[in-house]
Formats: sequence, C-alpha cells, structure tokens
Amino acid sequence: MLIVACSLAPGAAATAGPAESLSEKFAYCQDCHGPNGQGYRGFYPIPRLAGQQTQYIENQLRAFLERRRKNAIMLNVAHGLHGNMAAALAARFNAAKVAPIGGAPQTLAAQGKDIFDHGIPEKDVAACAACHGPAAQGTGEIPRLAGQLYEYVVFKLVNWSKERGQIASQPDTSLIMEPVAHSLSRSEAQAVAAYVSSLR
Ligand code: HEC
Ligand code: HEC
Repeated sequence: MLIVACSLAPGAAATAGPAESLSEKFAYCQDCHGPNGQGYRGFYPIPRLAGQQTQYIENQLRAFLERRRKNAIMLNVAHGLHGNMAAALAARFNAAKVAPIGGAPQTLAAQGKDIFDHGIPEKDVAACAACHGPAAQGTGEIPRLAGQLYEYVVFKLVNWSKERGQIASQPDTSLIMEPVAHSLSRSEAQAVAAYVSSLR
C-alpha cells in the first residue's frame, strides 16, 4: 500500500526518471565522500572511496543493505541503488585518482609500518600486508587501505565486532578480519592507521 502511494507521488516520478542517472548518483555520493571520493573529515569520518576495489565496494553496499554491516546512513543510501548502479558507481570510484587528505599523527607511522609489514608475532597478529598487499592497495573483497582516513581506520578497527558481521546466521568476509581487529590495542590501531593513511 505504502509502496504504491510513494510511486504515485510527484517527487517519486521525478527521481525514477533522468535524475537516476549515473552522474546524478555519483554527485550524491560525492556530497559526503568528497568531490573526488577522497573522504571527508566531518562529524563522522567519511571513508575514502577513490581507488577502492570494486568488489569490496559492492560487497559493503550489500552488507549495509542486508544489515550485516550496521550503519543507518549507508543503509538508506544502499536502498536507493537499483539495477547495476552499485557496480557502475564502484567502477567510477575505483578509477578516481586523488592524493590522501593526510592529517594523521606522523610520530606513530614508523611503528605502524612495522605492524603493517610484519604483524605482531607475540600477539599472533598476521601482517596486514599479507592480505591487503605490500602497498595496501587491496584486491577483490580485501579493501585498499592506502590513503584511507586516519580517524576512519581507527574507528573501524576498535568497533569491528559491533558493526560488521551482525547476522550470525550469515557469516561473511568480515570474519576474516575479525581476529586481527580484536587483537589490536587502540594504540596499535592508531599506529597502523597513521601509516596507511599517508600511503598513495
Ligand atoms: C549522507 C552521507 C553519505 C552519502 C550520501 C553516501 N555515503 Fe557512503 N558512507 C557514509 C558514511 C558515514 C560511511 C561510513 C560508515 C561506517 O562508519 O561504517 C560510508 C561508507 C561507505 C562505504 C564503505 C566504505 C568502506 O571503506 O568500507 C561505501 C562502499 C560507501 N559508503 C559507498 C557510497 C556510495 C556508492 C554512495 C552514493 C550512492 C554513498 N556512499 C553515499 C556516508 C555517506
Ligand atoms: C587474513 C587476511 C587479512 C589480514 C591479515 C588483515 N586484513 Fe584487514 N581486512 C581483510 C578483509 C577480508 C577485509 C574486508 C572485511 C569485510 O568484508 O567486512 C578487511 C578489512 C579491513 C579494514 C576495513 C576497511 C574499511 O574500509 O572499512 C581495515 C581498517 C583493515 N582491514 C585493517 C587491517 C590491518 C590494520 C591489518 C593488520 C594489523 C589487517 N587489516 C590485516 C583481511 C585481512
């Protein structure tokens, strides 16, 4: 009943037409994710999407939609994507080339590089590079971390199990990362976030 009413509303007719073009949607994403998808340091840190792996972007949009990944804003956004729009937007963001926005405490970066390259053997933490790649570019479902916002990376690592993999009966790729996030202390998360956020 509600759906029928909505689709008859004058505003709905407009958004189902030309306003749904790829460029319009891309502009909408840019409102929050920054003009080149470089991320935005606002009230919440909004992640960089520039250069991000297409498969990772599509996976996360699905995870928001299915509420496996908890975020009210992106749940709404993902609801508005139909057909192959998610794939087309992912390709656009993947192709965007832009320098990191920076701003991380650089005093932590050396310790962060050590964790990234070698892990933390005494805590059984695997090297980030083993999965995310030696230059943090990611591959497939494993995200690029290079240039990602410092605040965002810290925030994700310390909140992992509260936000990701929220439907126990539907285990997903977030499980691969869970033990790593769980083992890092806040200061270790800050160090590795400082390092990756400055990588191009
Ligand atoms: C109103 C602001 C807003 C808009 C518009 C928006 N996003 Fe987001 N997006 C966010 C926030 C905030 C997050 C971080 C969520 C979190 O902390 O988990 C996010 C996260 C994401 C992520 C996860 C990135 C990662 O590194 O895991 C993807 C993918 C994404 N957005 C894609 C899009 C796309 C595609 C669009 C346009 C169709 C879009 N977003 C529009 C605010 C927005
Ligand atoms: C065994 C492979 C593996 C290792 C080792 C690993 N990761 Fe990950 N990481 C993943 C996968 C897979 C994802 C995507 C999870 C998802 O789909 O929710 C991910 C996601 C992430 C994210 C979320 C990015 C975003 O945009 O939201 C961060 C941050 C991250 N990893 C940091 C690290 C750090 C730091 C280390 C090293 C201390 C590390 N990872 C080690 C596989 C790994």
